[in-house]
Amino acid sequence: MAHWKDDFPVDISGESRHSRREFARFLALVSAGFTAGIGYLWARRKPLEGAPSGDSGTAVAICKAAELQPGQCRLFAFRDAQDKCILLRTSRGELKSYRQVCTHLGCAVRWDGARLECPCHLGFFEVEQGFPVQGPPTRPLSGIALEIREGGMIWAVADISKPNAPARMAAACPGDGHCQGETV
Ligand code: FES
Repeated sequence: MAHWKDDFPVDISGESRHSRREFARFLALVSAGFTAGIGYLWARRKPLEGAPSGDSGTAVAICKAAELQPGQCRLFAFRDAQDKCILLRTSRGELKSYRQVCTHLGCAVRWDGARLECPCHLGFFEVEQGFPVQGPPTRPLSGIALEIREGGMIWAVADISKPNAPARMAAACPGDGHCQGETV
C-alpha cells in the first residue's frame, strides 16, 4: 500500500458514505436544537393578546366602583408594570377595561367619554367590545375581565378572548338602529 494511504485510509466511496452520514447527523442536531428552541419559547410564552387566561393569581385591585362615575376612567397596570390598561365607566354605567395598546402601531389609547381614541393616527374603538370603528386599526383592543369584590372594589382578573365577527356586528349596531361608524 502506498505510504499516503496509511495517513488517509478512507477511499473515495468510503469518503462519500462518511460525508453523507455526517451530514445526516448534522441535520439531526440542527433539528433537535430547533425543536428545543421552539419548546423553550413556547414554555416561556406570554399570554397571547386577548387569549383567555383564567389565572386569578394575577388579579389586580383598581379602585372602588363608587369612585368611578359615567364617563370617567382609571389607568392601571395588570400583568406587570409595562402592561398599561384602562378601566372606564360608560355613559350607561357599565364598567369596561382594555389594554391601552392600539392594535395599529401600539400607541396608547385614551377614553374620550364615548369611544377609545388613539391620537397617533386618529384610530377609534367602540367601547362595548373594543372593535375598531374608524381610522387605521383593523383588530379589536385586548379586553380585561373585571370583578367587583368585597367592599365594592373593582379587580382586573383575566384576559378576555377576542370577540368574533358576529359579536362585532352586534357591538357596532346594538339594535337601536344606530351603528357606530364603519367597521373595517
Ligand atoms: S397607532 Fe393607533 S391609529 Fe396608528
